Amino acid sequence: MADDGENPGGNFGDNLAGKVALVTGASSGLGHRAAVALAGAGAKVAVTARRVDRLQALAAEITVSGGQAAPFALDVRDPDAVKAVAKEAAEALGTIDILVNNAGVSVVKRPEDFTLEDYDFVHETNVKGPFLLAQAVGREMIKRGTGGKIINISSMMALRTTAKLALYGMSKAAIAQMTKQLALEWARHDIQVNAICPGYIETEMNEEHWKTPAGQGMIAAMPRRRIGKPEVMDGVLLLLASSRSDYMTGTLIPVDDGQVMM
Ligand SMILES: NC(=O)c1ccc[n+]([C@@H]2O[C@H](COP(=O)([O-])OP(=O)(O)OC[C@H]3O[C@@H](n4cnc5c(N)ncnc54)[C@H](OP(=O)(O)O)[C@@H]3O)[C@@H](O)[C@H]2O)c1
Repeated sequence: MADDGENPGGNFGDNLAGKVALVTGASSGLGHRAAVALAGAGAKVAVTARRVDRLQALAAEITVSGGQAAPFALDVRDPDAVKAVAKEAAEALGTIDILVNNAGVSVVKRPEDFTLEDYDFVHETNVKGPFLLAQAVGREMIKRGTGGKIINISSMMALRTTAKLALYGMSKAAIAQMTKQLALEWARHDIQVNAICPGYIETEMNEEHWKTPAGQGMIAAMPRRRIGKPEVMDGVLLLLASSRSDYMTGTLIPVDDGQVMM
């Protein structure tokens, strides 16, 4: 990635001014927070998801705070839509320097109970979608020759197991391997590809669960007996988005309060 302007006297390169980021799944949870954090660091942010009303509200929130963002409707399972949005976002904000592959879903069942529909739903959203996005954005980065950053949101479930999350864990392990594979093959194009493996973070994906006796029991068994909020990802996300991580690629970084050791 082009240097952000390293200056040992002050600016250490985590200012994203002049950079353009595209975030998937920005309508809630971790993606919403990632868009706010990237915009706060100076990046122009293309916010994408299916719920456009939420994206419009997010873009307005970022603009009011002095940042720049534009909403784009996107279902990551649709290959044509992925290509179109990558192009439209670049036309609107500038060529994409940073991709945050965040959109994701889960279905919670015993292995014997999953349907074919469950399988396709999870893998099309969590694996095919991020691959298509990485491909669309990566091709442009290669063509442009100025490098870039791809940040995949995997999960600690790529690194450990838990009951009823077989499909989810399989999909997140695929993203972990995709991260390493793309990192190796795109290293010569100065594209750094890294993954964050979050632990449990309270979002719409799981917020109801934490209110149940089973959820409360899980929290009590966690190393710090607590659940993080989306902002716990800010530090690693901004590191991976900035030139401060130019010597990092193909890494899987847990941000999990120690939960992967449970
Ligand atoms: N929360 C956790 O504990 C945790 C832990 C580890 C990893 N993660 C990962 O973090 C990522 C974000 O999850 P979250 O916790 O923030 O959940 P969330 O609040 O439910 O957000 C999921 C996001 O994905 C989007 N999305 C789902 N299907 C999509 C599709 N087909 N096309 C485009 N966007 C789609 C949703 O937007 P629309 O519905 O508007 O399209 C939403 O913005 C996921 O990849 C998840 O696996 C979460």
